[in-house]
Amino acid sequence: MKKTLVIVAHPNLTASVINKTWKERVIQETDIIVHDLYAKYPDGNIDVAYEQQLLLEHDRIVFQFPFYWYSSPSLLKEWQDVVLTYGWAFGSEGTKLRGKEFMLAISTGGPETAYQAGGSNLFSMSELTKPFQATANLTGMRFLPTFMKQGVRYFTNEEVRESAEAFVHHLKNNY
Ligand SMILES: Cc1cc2nc3c(=O)[nH]c(=O)nc-3n(C[C@H](O)[C@H](O)[C@H](O)COP(=O)(O)O)c2cc1C
Repeated sequence: MKKTLVIVAHPNLTASVINKTWKERVIQETDIIVHDLYAKYPDGNIDVAYEQQLLLEHDRIVFQFPFYWYSSPSLLKEWQDVVLTYGWAFGSEGTKLRGKEFMLAISTGGPETAYQAGGSNLFSMSELTKPFQATANLTGMRFLPTFMKQGVRYFTNEEVRESAEAFVHHLKNNY
């Protein structure tokens, strides 16, 4: 069975609706490890060896975050900068992530219709997540379909709960 690691990056989970619900739901799955970056590193000081070891122990790596300025919250960017090092994640000797799977799980304030040509955000999520796709490519990981919930401001509690179930289903899917 695939070992899945969900790396959650939300700077204020206490105030979160969607990412908090997703995290609390996924934690109930005994075969999925949830790793909350802002909880682990409140000072922003990332333990690179620990993070690299976690990655080695899993086959499917998932970044879960709220969309902030068309990208991830900053600690997840810092994580990429310090954890995905030359000679480890990329470069001729940097083969540690090769053959793994990589997935994004993103909540956006803007609705789906805003993310297209002619919409208020102009570009699709597939276009805006290209840096993540390129990172998966460079590190030899297969980029899986993204789990997305958009226009989250307008969700009812029931819709939020349903989205958490859909997320678990998506996480366990064979692509
Ligand atoms: C600093 C900041 C930047 C944001 N940037 C975007 C954005 O670029 N696009 C978007 O659709 N929503 C944006 N949002 C809205 C968040 O994506 C939305 O509030 C979040 O997905 C809700 O999830 P949560 O309930 O887990 O906090 C932004 C919110 C904040 C606080």
